Amino acid sequence: MAAQISPKPIYLSDNMTVTIKTPEEIEKMRIAGRLAAEVLEMIAPHVVPGISTGELDRICHQYITETQAAIPAPLNYHGFPKSICTSVNEVICHGIPSDGKILKDGDIINIDITVIKNEYHGDTSAMFHVGTPRPHNKKLIEVTQQCLYEAIDLVKPGIRLGDIGNLIQKLAEGNHYSVVREYCGHGIGKVFHEEPQVLHYGKPGTGMELQKGMTFTIEPMINLGQRHTKLNKKDGWTVTTKDRRASAQWEHTLVVTDTGVEVLTARKDEKYFNA
Ligand code: MF3
Ligand code: CO
Ligand code: CO
Repeated sequence: MAAQISPKPIYLSDNMTVTIKTPEEIEKMRIAGRLAAEVLEMIAPHVVPGISTGELDRICHQYITETQAAIPAPLNYHGFPKSICTSVNEVICHGIPSDGKILKDGDIINIDITVIKNEYHGDTSAMFHVGTPRPHNKKLIEVTQQCLYEAIDLVKPGIRLGDIGNLIQKLAEGNHYSVVREYCGHGIGKVFHEEPQVLHYGKPGTGMELQKGMTFTIEPMINLGQRHTKLNKKDGWTVTTKDRRASAQWEHTLVVTDTGVEVLTARKDEKYFNA
């Protein structure tokens, strides 16, 4: 793979190889994935004007630790201070919840949940409108979800990572949006971020070939304006668009099956959900 793009790939150590999960491991990932999806379902009705992102974090932390008896993976991960990521408007990813950040009508927010259960991770995120959606944000959110869904529908043994990246890039840029390049999807299992890196742009027929038993995320970050990012130097985490225009992201954790894909973090309202 090409030179690592920073900073998400700093989590990846050298010399790691892709792990193929056993059926027993996939069963544990199903459980972790289901729990992560249920946190998003639980928090949805709380995303209203006037609530702070700090309060959303507290509600999720309590639900994960007490109701689910699971671990919120972000907390203390490389020093991250909270249990979930909350990325509002021009924040692309890794927004830190705070009591001072009050959601207002017309905001958009990505809530990114990662739980650990029986040592395995489930990682998923979704976008929410706060109050009344603004048409340009609504379309950005819908197209970004379509990027994720069409990419998922491509996944099966034998396709290549570049096929996924290319599909997302073509759909986003075809709508005059841009694709964030500095952050990517990732392999996942006992380790939160493992190989491979799953770029959301690229060329068809390039990159690693997918194999049955691989587990990874797809999590496109799509910007209304330009693709360039800015890392907040004070908190070391918050990534925003350089032009301060809005960004959207959706994420699922997947496993490659014999004939296709299983979405481990599917919510009840999604076509991927298995009861
Ligand atoms: N959940 C994010 C991802 O999709 C990672 C968050 S790391 C944190 O990979 F430290 F910011 F929480
Ligand atoms: Co992820
Ligand atoms: Co995530």
